[in-house]
Amino acid sequence: MKVANLLGALVLLALTSSFATAYDPSPLQDICVAINDTDSAVLVNGKFCKNPSLYTPDDFSFSGFDVPGNTSNQLGVHVNIVTADLMPGLNTLGVSMARIDFAPNGGLNPPHYHPRASELLLVVKGTLYAGFVTSNPDHRLFAKILKPGDLIVFPFGLVHFQLNIGKTPAVAIAALTSQNPGVNTVANAIFGASPSINPAVITTAFHLDRKLVEDLQSQEWVNPT
Ligand SMILES: *[C@@H]1O[C@H](CO)[C@@H](O)[C@H](O)[C@H]1NC(C)=O
Ligand SMILES: *[C@@H]1O[C@H](CO)[C@@H](O)[C@H](O)[C@H]1NC(C)=O
Repeated sequence: MKVANLLGALVLLALTSSFATAYDPSPLQDICVAINDTDSAVLVNGKFCKNPSLYTPDDFSFSGFDVPGNTSNQLGVHVNIVTADLMPGLNTLGVSMARIDFAPNGGLNPPHYHPRASELLLVVKGTLYAGFVTSNPDHRLFAKILKPGDLIVFPFGLVHFQLNIGKTPAVAIAALTSQNPGVNTVANAIFGASPSINPAVITTAFHLDRKLVEDLQSQEWVNPT
């Protein structure tokens, strides 16, 4: 009996801990428009929700994906991501969307991952070389050259990238399976950490000499925006 109880407790623990690290929660009501002002909030499921009598069509829409982003920066990329912060009606729905613009000849959305989402990317304009790499132990690369009308999926939490290999600007639209997918740009996290990571960590981990590591750490690591 005692053993059975213990097993039951372990199973329960395993179940609850896997739920705790799972995807966005399933909605508990049809809609819940996010609001920052907690004084006028009435229901809670994720963020505070606005009083339903005050919901408007604008809570559920967003304009601006027709406007090209400015790619005049180091990476030659511009990422316009619409999460529940910009579109409060996305709250609790487990979805968000981005428009990504790439400068001609090498505009790059650098290797990064989303800690809370898978991503489905549609090329609208131009030619992209895009791919993702699986986790330990294999680190398999799945990459393709994509043209307008082509889709690629970047699975949950895996490192991925897109490079404009064409001579014209490129545009992609991405749907993500979280209202707040998060972004971690790998190089920036390693070389641009604040305060800096002890160079000994990076020297050994990346097989680089110390001088090069210190030089890389002294550079500016700007996140794509
Ligand atoms: C694009 O960004 C660059 C660098 O910040 C700036 O100099 C330029 O004026 C911007 N271009 C437009 C059209 O806003
Ligand atoms: C809510 O707060 C976040 C974080 O401070 C901000 O980015 C966002 O624009 C705010 N949203 C609204 C609808 O005021």
